[in-house]
Amino acid sequence: MAAPLADEDAFSLPAWIYHDPEFFELEKQTIFRQAWQLVCHQSDVPNVGDYHSFDFMGESVIALRGEDGQIRSFHNACRHRASRLLDESKGHCGRKITCPYHAWTYGLDGRLVAIPQREAFKGLDFGRHGFGTPGAGNLPRLHLRPLCPGPPACKGNGGPLRA
Ligand code: FES
Repeated sequence: MAAPLADEDAFSLPAWIYHDPEFFELEKQTIFRQAWQLVCHQSDVPNVGDYHSFDFMGESVIALRGEDGQIRSFHNACRHRASRLLDESKGHCGRKITCPYHAWTYGLDGRLVAIPQREAFKGLDFGRHGFGTPGAGNLPRLHLRPLCPGPPACKGNGGPLRA
């Protein structure tokens, strides 16, 4: 018989929910990873090339101010062999990000722009190897993004945050 989801008068959740690793994994997959998350305040990345990173649910995310002034966020992982691209929690990366492992280089919009020994990667589609799908969800002062595709548009979901 399955464990009850609530006590009889529906006042409280049963205690096992608060420490059950399977339930927590289910929450991560179905709630937290699909919801918009506050990444940073726009003042955390005031200039082109400024970045702010944080770990959320075991994943490193970067918020990065692009050449066009937009803040985009990405998974902090190289598309080649998944090396972490930026180690610091905040900083300035100039006009590009070069992976410390094999030097694949990305623009501030996440596009792959250069790789060493390009001749060894014949047929590589640069357009498909950016270092993450930009997740732009800018509210006036806050930068939000989901960790996976699918949630409704940010606009209209940030009601209390706009106050
Ligand atoms: S892991 Fe980044 S260039 Fe190889």
